[in-house]
Amino acid sequence: MINPKIITIDGPAGAGKSTLAKEIAKQFGYVHLDSGALYRAIGYGCKLAGVDLKNREAVLKVAENLKVEFLPDGRVLLNGKDVTTKIRTPEGGLLASQVAQFPEVREIVVKLLRRMAKGKKIVIDGRDAGTYIFPNAELKIYLTASPEERARRRYEELKKKGYSVTYEEVLKEVVERDRQDENRPFAPLRIPDGAVVIDTTGKSLEEVLLQVKELIDP
Ligand code: C5P
Repeated sequence: MINPKIITIDGPAGAGKSTLAKEIAKQFGYVHLDSGALYRAIGYGCKLAGVDLKNREAVLKVAENLKVEFLPDGRVLLNGKDVTTKIRTPEGGLLASQVAQFPEVREIVVKLLRRMAKGKKIVIDGRDAGTYIFPNAELKIYLTASPEERARRRYEELKKKGYSVTYEEVLKEVVERDRQDENRPFAPLRIPDGAVVIDTTGKSLEEVLLQVKELIDP
């Protein structure tokens, strides 16, 4: 068992990373950094500004001028406005995945996350947290599950929040995002060296937490 200063959780869309990160933060006193929320906020900011997502210069301009705040209660503010639920839609995921392809956008986000982590015990979830942002993290977790199970979880979560989506739409979005995230040239989704791999297919959050708790010093 270890007492890590930095815990990274990487994995594909819908693997349960942010749910696990939130629980670890709560139970062990860590600050949770949701790196996906930053890409989502940039993607959403581009949509609001009517920016073509293939236009690198225009996307970069939005990213450079964006002010994102994480409130302690989990809300995300974009230029002072609450966008917490707006960025969580399947469309928000795809917009995020598109802007995340640009290395310059990633550099802005990575710098911001490293600054936010200074002097704190953090648990961060994302796609490149253990491979690129914090390669020296003491505990790296790679969470995965079958695409069908990940889509089902996302679908149920969205339904609960009142979004009108079909399971097929969500599955399509999950598979498309995996493809984009695994195939981008810069900091693609990979299992980090030394990561503990946990397949959450058919497992409850409690079961996964039990497995993780065995790795962390209370
Ligand atoms: O984790 P979440 O689903 O909120 O992430 C949205 C998208 O942001 C991902 O599909 C991925 O393209 C991008 N992302 C990334 N690197 C991270 C976190 C998210 O490229 N560290």
